[in-house]
Amino acid sequence: MIPREIIDEIVYRSDIEQVISSYVTLKRAGSNSNGLCPFHSERTPSFTVFPNTRSFYCFGCGAGGDVITFIMRAENLSYVDAVRWLGDRAGIPVPEDEYAGEADTVSRKRIYEMNLEAARFFRDRLFDDKYGKEAMSYLRDNRKLSGATIKHFGLGFSPDSFSALTEHMKKLGYTDEELVIGFLGGKSKKTGRVYDYYRNRIIFPIIDTSGNIVAFGGRVMDDSKPKYLNTSDTPAFKKSRHLFALNFARKHSEEYMILCEGYMDVIALHAAGFENAVATLGTAITSEQARVFAKYTKKVIICYDSDEAGQNAASKAMRLLNEAGLEVKVLSVVGAKDPDEFIKKYGAEKFKSLLGESKSGFDFKLEKIVVKYNLALPEDKIKASSEVCELIAVVGSEVERDIYIRRASDVLGNNTEAMKNDVERVRYRKIKEYKKKEGRDAQLSVKNIGDRVNLESSKNIRASNSEEAVIALMLIYDEFRQEAAKGQAGITPNDFVTDFGRRVFEEICKLENSEGGFSKALLGQYFSVEEMGRIEKLEVERRRLAKNDKEVFLSCIESIKQEKNALSLSDGFDDLKARQEMLRKAKERKDPKISGIK
Ligand code: GTP
Ligand code: MN
Repeated sequence: MIPREIIDEIVYRSDIEQVISSYVTLKRAGSNSNGLCPFHSERTPSFTVFPNTRSFYCFGCGAGGDVITFIMRAENLSYVDAVRWLGDRAGIPVPEDEYAGEADTVSRKRIYEMNLEAARFFRDRLFDDKYGKEAMSYLRDNRKLSGATIKHFGLGFSPDSFSALTEHMKKLGYTDEELVIGFLGGKSKKTGRVYDYYRNRIIFPIIDTSGNIVAFGGRVMDDSKPKYLNTSDTPAFKKSRHLFALNFARKHSEEYMILCEGYMDVIALHAAGFENAVATLGTAITSEQARVFAKYTKKVIICYDSDEAGQNAASKAMRLLNEAGLEVKVLSVVGAKDPDEFIKKYGAEKFKSLLGESKSGFDFKLEKIVVKYNLALPEDKIKASSEVCELIAVVGSEVERDIYIRRASDVLGNNTEAMKNDVERVRYRKIKEYKKKEGRDAQLSVKNIGDRVNLESSKNIRASNSEEAVIALMLIYDEFRQEAAKGQAGITPNDFVTDFGRRVFEEICKLENSEGGFSKALLGQYFSVEEMGRIEKLEVERRRLAKNDKEVFLSCIESIKQEKNALSLSDGFDDLKARQEMLRKAKERKDPKISGIK
């Protein structure tokens, strides 16, 4: 990537009116200027350049953005090439990134071979007293791993040196480029030299189901940061698809699999005889990984860290795994921070009985609600009951609802019949709300049909309108942007309904929080020219409105959240038939004549 200071400088030196006027004859109109759009044919000028905001927008075809976006369109260039083009024009040289575009030139096979050699090197260093003494003692004494386990997982050690591995690999014929692309080496910005990426770390090879070493994780042996370094995506590896230890676990996955957070948890579990344990590679589970599970098993027991972060991650994992059609249970390692510590403290037998006690998804959610309240207080009990009813009401199957109602009334100490009535009432209300939303959206959707930039907007008109307002206000006013980026405006990326809205919001916040702060010129690298046009449009349209204050900002945020909420309710009603059945039953209950015949 081109350094941002250089991009900023280039944009600063590229007067947008001057640049565009070599393509379009511009006429002054107030503080802006107009001309015939170079991107579609027209007879009356709807193409406008706004010198104040250093941007352009065509009210006819929707092309818009900053000076970089303009050159991307006009010269048909990528973002980086458009920056270079403008750099040439302004006389600002852009440094060449040697390895850019070369990522595809190293084959998968070559990376596998390279990783295998590297893994051998790391292993040899670990088992060599001269280098690996401290690392070996860390693994054996601190982490209580046996020699067999260390060998089984192919663990290794990267010496505390900037050149040990890279020198070794170069002797074997691997080039600097290959080492950098494969994430075994980094390239020094100052000297241009390639150095060892992993230094003084315990190495965990990540092996795919065909036995290829696809990546590495490297852990420090003390409390220094970062605790882990991991291979980023390479031509041979995508983090979001792999699971640590799946190469072993797939042979023990028939009955169920265990999902943990950390490499060390998995290793401890395998060593204790639970060879069906796997972990994601330091990131939250993705839907791709959920589908991988579904290939190997029917049931997953989530066993995350016992802290709040772990428990929240468990909720998310539960949803994704459910969506992939898996039965999901959740296990809490009470009395320990993670499964690794639990096994060390209490032993494998205790863990085994814990597995037997793992909670269903429903019990897990039920407990999350219950612990928030003091059930001895009537008000608290009412609140807890109503939250639980909301939870059960969206379950599609009547049998399942019945089971949950019994269980919940047991836990809460409620009368089962009373709870059942409450649940059905909530369910009836939700179905009505959902129908209403569906009707409203159908009416509105005609307007946004054919929106190619934000495909979800026609299904979520209200939400996407509010999202656009929030984004526009963030672009126009620094204070709103700063507030939102600091998380003080009461909105997070997860609140967004449309993917486009979420992406724009996220990138704006990321830039705002980055060292150099927000700059619209940098936004272009994350979005297509069509998307940039849309972003420009929503800002231009917003500027034309009279009322653009905090009240508007906050009420639009509120409205996004409401829409998101309504949508998550409807998630439970994806099965149309089940919904109609529910309506029919609800009607029967209201109309004694019909139910009397039955
Ligand atoms: P121990 O602390 O030794 O028990 O290791 P752990 O594997 O249990 O780690 P932890 O529970 O802290 O984190 C879970 C997983 O997140 C790790 O296995 C890594 O994959 C990943 N992870 C943890 N810290 C970092 C980090 O600093 N950087 C990156 N990239 N990943 C990390
Ligand atoms: Mn841990």
